[in-house]
Amino acid sequence: MKYDFNNDADRDFPSMVVAEICNVCNLRCTHCGCRKVIESSEYKPYFLELDIFKRVVDEVVLHKNSFLRFTSDGEPLLHPQILDMVKYAKLKGIFPVTINTNGLLLDNNTAMHLLESGIDVIEISINAFTKETYNKFRINADYDTLMKNIENIIFMKKSKNYNTKLMVSTINFPGYEEEVKQFDEFWSGKADKVIIRTFFDHQGLVDNICEKKLKSIDRFPCPQFWKRITVAANGWLKYCVNDWFNKTKIADLRTGITIQEIWNSDEYKKMRERQIKGEYDKINICGSCTDWQAMDWNYDYNFAINELTNPK
Ligand SMILES: C[S@@+](CC[C@H](N)C(=O)[O-])C[C@H]1O[C@@H](n2cnc3c(N)ncnc32)[C@H](O)[C@@H]1O
Ligand code: SF4
Ligand code: SF4
Repeated sequence: MKYDFNNDADRDFPSMVVAEICNVCNLRCTHCGCRKVIESSEYKPYFLELDIFKRVVDEVVLHKNSFLRFTSDGEPLLHPQILDMVKYAKLKGIFPVTINTNGLLLDNNTAMHLLESGIDVIEISINAFTKETYNKFRINADYDTLMKNIENIIFMKKSKNYNTKLMVSTINFPGYEEEVKQFDEFWSGKADKVIIRTFFDHQGLVDNICEKKLKSIDRFPCPQFWKRITVAANGWLKYCVNDWFNKTKIADLRTGITIQEIWNSDEYKKMRERQIKGEYDKINICGSCTDWQAMDWNYDYNFAINELTNPK
């Protein structure tokens, strides 16, 4: 397979801009790096400043190939200005705008504001089919509240015919294959799309929580260098979305530098070259990482969002 940009537009600007708008979380999931990060002595909470966020939006909207994805190194709905941020992105005309949430803070009021803002996709990561498995992986969470919130948003969407699509996701935890199948069958009739994420260990931050291990596969270049860039909650751009300690930060957006400049920089070009040549050790934390295995060149988040928002 040839590892390259999907098209010329992506060469100039990433097709996905990930806005990690905060690094705080209401949960402490066993399968996520967040727990250890929040407990570490290096940890400092950040909430992306509104003026930096607006500058990002003002740039993304100039590139029609690009979409904006709200998520976080934690839970994006904990950012006090999240609803203003989504509204701003939609008023400026970004399409699509998506959010990835654990869904527990998606009460009536928040759901209504998100739907009214015209957000294109709400992804709720449920991560389990049964309550028992949910409670095993999602610590501090409440399954019944989540189910109520999902039921509610489905009802609200239908009753006012909002364009927003609802996507639900789970993870292919090794040993839980049957449950993943049940999840897919159950939610396919209710949500607009179901996605199954590939389990990864957050660069060693997650302990061995499954009875089985994922099969290891031959290394390939990490698609992030061709497909996405991440805005960290502290206002830096980073090249790795799975980098919890911001070791891959590459430019401070406060200096006025643009995403396009960084995406086209010699430093980025060098990293792409190194990925292609298999010189992973020469790129900061890439050498020892196995998280790239969870990313698929042939079918990734961009494809899923595209299918949902541009149905044939
Ligand atoms: C880090 S979370 C941030 C957003 C939000 N807190 C949530 O849980 O949806 C982003 C996505 O990563 C997924 N995720 C977390 N740990 C994972 C793991 N070990 N393997 C695969 N996906 C994982 C979550 O299910 C979620 O869909
Ligand atoms: S998966 Fe999401 S909700 Fe769970 S700890 Fe990680 S960031 Fe928080
Ligand atoms: S190889 Fe690993 S550390 Fe490097 S960018 Fe990809 S996921 Fe991040």
